[in-house]
Amino acid sequence: MAAAKTERGIPLSTISPKYLHTNSTSHTGPFSAIAELIDNAYDPDVNAKQIWIDKTQINNKGKDIECLTFRDDGNGLNRDLMHQMLSFGISKKKAVNGKLPIGMYGNGFKSGSMRLGKDAIVLSKSRNDLCVGMLSQTYLEEIDAKQIAVPIISFYEQEADNVMEEHQASLRDILEHSPFNTEDELLTELHAIEGPTGTKIIIWNLRRTSEGNMELDFTTENDIRIICDDSGTSVPESHSSLRAYCSILYLEPSMQINIQGQRVEKHCIYESLDYIDRSYSYKPNIVKKRIPIIFGVNKSKQHYGLMMYHNNRLIKAYHRVGCQLKARNRRSIGVIGVIECNHLKPTHNKQDFEDDKPYRNTIKSVACKLREYSGI
Ligand SMILES: Nc1ncnc2c1ncn2[C@@H]1O[C@H](COP(=O)(O)OP(=O)(O)OP(=O)(O)O)[C@@H](O)[C@H]1O
Ligand SMILES: [Mg+2]
Repeated sequence: MAAAKTERGIPLSTISPKYLHTNSTSHTGPFSAIAELIDNAYDPDVNAKQIWIDKTQINNKGKDIECLTFRDDGNGLNRDLMHQMLSFGISKKKAVNGKLPIGMYGNGFKSGSMRLGKDAIVLSKSRNDLCVGMLSQTYLEEIDAKQIAVPIISFYEQEADNVMEEHQASLRDILEHSPFNTEDELLTELHAIEGPTGTKIIIWNLRRTSEGNMELDFTTENDIRIICDDSGTSVPESHSSLRAYCSILYLEPSMQINIQGQRVEKHCIYESLDYIDRSYSYKPNIVKKRIPIIFGVNKSKQHYGLMMYHNNRLIKAYHRVGCQLKARNRRSIGVIGVIECNHLKPTHNKQDFEDDKPYRNTIKSVACKLREYSGI
């Protein structure tokens, strides 16, 4: 295959369809992948007030397909934004009215959706457009694609048979390779997005374990769970229950998350702690203001450590530092520290921070204050 070139004849890099899977492996578990899709609805450009996460079945040619869906009431997308969403490395998010964006790498939707399943379709209703885009590994395999093709269509006048001429090839591929086989079915799904604007993401061919079982467990009412292996060690509820994870995902929750038909109770992580002390703070060299650190004791003493947030979003949870790493120091057992570290750089799966000097200084200083709080 001859490489595509710039106007000056310089070869352009190619992204193979296999990269979709490769890129998804940055999420070691499914909850961090789900968080990427929640963040996108929360971010100030979309500014959704609600997101609904559900498992549904879509009947396709007489066969029920298990799907995971994310629907939000945010601003939606037009065709150009849909193309950006299905591309790599483009992110133009900025703070709006003091709300700082979580997204910055232009990768979360791709890594997150492809971690949860092999195929995804995005249906969006924005002020002036109805738009559909597909990112599907199965489709790319079936057409033996050498590059990542992303069929995108927009309807004008919001009616069937009103797909623009230049989108006809995309329409054919979406109807052939997605769970929706007619334009009417697509439009029905688009119109099912309640409210003036919003986006629905449907993921199918959901990831299975090596034993062939669904990776996510939908059998608990109003929750989505990860079946943890019975190794005997107790893990925090937020590691196995999406409801518990979502309840601490944002330091100050501003968007309502609904899982399998039930709203997630908004609560600040520190509100449930005992012996709360808000008098501690940390002043990194690189920022002007001191950062508050809230210490408290977890009711379930087995789970403790730092809860580290960035721009309101949980990055590291139950991260033990300093004296908590030594079994002898029983006084720091159960102590939780909550800190929002906007001066640090999250890694691209948003599960850790770059291990640089500001990070190491932060940990060192917070560990010192934790010792003081614990009375050691
Ligand atoms: N639910 C949504 N509604 C409207 N637009 C969305 C939605 N989800 C994603 N987008 C758009 O798609 C773009 C790509 O999302 P993606 O998560 O891949 O990158 P990002 O959020 O910009 O950065 P990061 O990789 O750090 O998450 C976003 O910048 C946003 O413009
Ligand atoms: Mg994102």
